[in-house]
Amino acid sequence: MEYPSFTQKHKSLMRKYLTNDIFKKLKTKITKNGFTIEQAINSGVKNPDSNIGIYAGDKESYKIFSIVFDKVIEEYHDFDKDRKHLSNLNSEDLNTPYLEELDNYIVSTRIRVGRNFDNMPLGPAISKEQRDEIQSIVSNTLSSFEGSLKGKYFSLEGMKEEDRLSLIDDHFLFKAGDSYLEEAGLNRDWPSGRGIFHNNEKTFLVWVNEEDHLRIISMQKGGNIKEVFQRLIVAIQNLEEKIEFSYDEHLGYITSCPTNLGTAMRASVHIKLPKLSLNMKLLEEIANKHYLQIRGINGEHSNSENGIFDISNKRRLGVTEVQCVQDMYDGVIELIKCEKDL
Ligand code: ADP
Ligand code: ARG
Repeated sequence: MEYPSFTQKHKSLMRKYLTNDIFKKLKTKITKNGFTIEQAINSGVKNPDSNIGIYAGDKESYKIFSIVFDKVIEEYHDFDKDRKHLSNLNSEDLNTPYLEELDNYIVSTRIRVGRNFDNMPLGPAISKEQRDEIQSIVSNTLSSFEGSLKGKYFSLEGMKEEDRLSLIDDHFLFKAGDSYLEEAGLNRDWPSGRGIFHNNEKTFLVWVNEEDHLRIISMQKGGNIKEVFQRLIVAIQNLEEKIEFSYDEHLGYITSCPTNLGTAMRASVHIKLPKLSLNMKLLEEIANKHYLQIRGINGEHSNSENGIFDISNKRRLGVTEVQCVQDMYDGVIELIKCEKDL
């Protein structure tokens, strides 16, 4: 196995930290699930525009290939390696008052977490049979949910193309053919084993076998962030009663991409900022100050449309779930103030 031929265009954190010497140390290592450094970095090698460029095939990958993962994790999450990850799911600790005025700017709010089965390889190293087994366990578990979380599971294989496309257009379902996931091995056997659960109102959703085994999602129109958080926490707790998820004291919830470690939480709003959209430097300055990420409105790697942005927390590890949401709320309040001043 040769050191990858990186070009000027490769700008990922993986490329920054995977020196030839480190590569030599890692190239003979292999996890119990047969995952290698070559597989871990393939996405970042084949997609030069990757920002991160590395995925884990299992929890063990984070240990065996730690000389490169630790550096990537430290830089992305601003996380000091010796700190322990802490969780806080208590919505009473949120300071996110709902003001009606928020709805003039916030189109919708969505909070998701990633979760992976404790006893299975992560998506990049999973087999078709294991993926199918996860789908079956998750859809069975969800079928016992009652009340406002009651809903139905739809497998991607059985879905009409028009239904799939309309779920994507309405921001409920993941897209197909992402080149980063493709080269990470996450699209193998597509669409087998993938699907989506949702309640009637589509305010509680679960993605199965996309980038992580589960993405648990709570979303609704407008800016009532606490309500979205509370629904999510109930759903997580119900699932955790039935399924054991992969967790580590230092890394928090284990996910296939190191950006999602820790809380595995992305709390976002779709927010109208037409004036700020003409001054991206200022928008980015405020976002950076509050540890926020700016995305377009059709998901990651999409563009903003009509001055509407997806604004979410960037840090997920070494901060609690409450802090993730607080980062987003505080930043959004400052963005709205600035939009008004313009
Ligand atoms: P993820 O959050 O799961 O990492 P994406 O950035 O790809 O991944 O977003 C997934 C989908 O969720 C996309 O369709 C995106 O438009 C939608 N989405 C994200 N945030 C919001 C929001 N606040 N309101 C409505 N839809 C959202
Ligand atoms: N692998 C892509 C990159 O390096 C995405 C990383 C973060 N996003 C994600 N969906 N995991 O840019």
